[in-house]
Amino acid sequence: MTAAADLDASRIPRHVAIVMDGNGRWAKRRGLKRTDGHAAGEEALFDTVEGALEIGLKWMTVFAFSTENWRRPLDEVRFLMRFNESLLLRRRDDLNERGVRVRFIGRRGGRVPKRVLRHIEDTEALTHSNRRMTLTFAFNYGGRAELVDAIRSIATEARARKLDPAKVDEKVIARHMYAADMPDPDLLVRTSGEYRISNYLLWQLAYAELVFTDTLWPDFRRADLFAAVQEFQQRERRFGAIEGA
Ligand code: IPE
Ligand code: IPE
Ligand code: MG
Repeated sequence: MTAAADLDASRIPRHVAIVMDGNGRWAKRRGLKRTDGHAAGEEALFDTVEGALEIGLKWMTVFAFSTENWRRPLDEVRFLMRFNESLLLRRRDDLNERGVRVRFIGRRGGRVPKRVLRHIEDTEALTHSNRRMTLTFAFNYGGRAELVDAIRSIATEARARKLDPAKVDEKVIARHMYAADMPDPDLLVRTSGEYRISNYLLWQLAYAELVFTDTLWPDFRRADLFAAVQEFQQRERRFGAIEGA
């Protein structure tokens, strides 16, 4: 088991993004309903948040519901909407007291119930001045949808002549992402032995280190986060350059 003390405290990643995957399989293995797996993921999430605070992580982003997850059976979709809403209501005061700023990235509309959107906005307002850590929920989030929204907004500015198309560069695009001030993830962790990105943070993950683990999300705990960070600390990041240059 990896402990916080095993990590190089001077090289903690600034931003860790997580794909919390494997809830359904976790439940199935126990003869439970898929939705029981989602419920069991709550403890995994909050133990991981504790671990993140313990090692001084400043940004953590978790994939809670994708733009593609609407393809699931209506019962499961409804459960996930209600579950995320109740999790927010039950946990937000505690997160606030711990100095966590809670934010959401994703499309705020479509099939997301109005009441859920209101709780999202309230939670963001409640925690907006906290700076110990920013916990971002990717909810009704898709990397391609985010790029579409960014390009639409850039095109609108260009049409209103507020932006010269020749001036569109990486900085302009980054500024039109859902959370423009969010640094790119240094580390992406995906659980459950799936080796794909699934439309997560497509723009922002350009140079992230990828760590995959077979652990199913409901079994994930802070020690698994520490192990992923330890693996990250053994990687050599080059960003296209060569070592030592
Ligand atoms: C991740 O677990 C949670 C969501 C996508 C909402 P899954 O529900 O995808 O679990 P598996 O992948 O089917 O096991
Ligand atoms: C990605 O997991 C989305 C979330 C964890 C919310 P999925 O389980 O939806 O991804 P795929 O379908 O296996 O690619
Ligand atoms: Mg899955």
